[in-house]
Amino acid sequence: MEVIIRKTAAEVATVAADILGQYFRPGGVIGVATGSTPLATYAAIIARAQVGILDASEVEFFALDEYVGLGHDHPQSYYRTLRTELIDPLGVEPRRLHVPDASQAGERYEAEILAAGGIDCQLLGVGTNGHIGFNEPGSSLNSVTRWKTLHPQTVADNARFFSSADAVPRHVITQGLGTIQRAGHLLLIATGDAKRNAVAGLVEGPLSAACPASIMQWHRHATVVVDGAAAAGLKNREYYEFAEANKPN
Ligand code: GLP
Repeated sequence: MEVIIRKTAAEVATVAADILGQYFRPGGVIGVATGSTPLATYAAIIARAQVGILDASEVEFFALDEYVGLGHDHPQSYYRTLRTELIDPLGVEPRRLHVPDASQAGERYEAEILAAGGIDCQLLGVGTNGHIGFNEPGSSLNSVTRWKTLHPQTVADNARFFSSADAVPRHVITQGLGTIQRAGHLLLIATGDAKRNAVAGLVEGPLSAACPASIMQWHRHATVVVDGAAAAGLKNREYYEFAEANKPN
């Protein structure tokens, strides 16, 4: 696992856009995340596409997860969020955005990913409790796309996007930890002090369902990009910085 530490959230977005940008090619398959952390990365990607550095027109996009019960037109549905924040500004045809559908079996989404040739690079954020996608603590390490019940911490964290905590759906459909691990490259980004414990847990804690993001440790090509605040709990921080500056050729 490569750990890249930058001072600011803006620098994290630049590094993430540099990495993700390499997968924008005809036939490329990119896994996209929601939440607030990826927004700056998406803005950087869009800016590059607008000046012709990136071409997104023949890329397929797969979302990690979706709330159960929110239609595609609901402003907080992940389908609508991804259309607004990434797909439409990129000028990508909406049919190229795939989002798990809670009215269908999770296997169908797995089959869609397979039919596209698998995900080349999966962008991930992390919840304060260590969740990725909506794989809450206790998720099977080899799970596939399925419904989950949100952890109270996640409901509280995501209430800011809704009128109140009561308005946050309790159920979601999410790629499983097994699904996520089948992507060719995992790129996890985290910024801010609230992610400090989750980052310490996923990078330096045990590989455990108690911290679903710790599956990064098991993946053959995993990159973690964090800002100084999110990196503050890392014991080996100096080593990661040294290793990045002294990469073997
Ligand atoms: C949601 C999403 C996750 C995301 C997490 C953190 O729960 N399902 O994919 O990583 O929020 O969001 P934020 O980046 O807003 O902290």
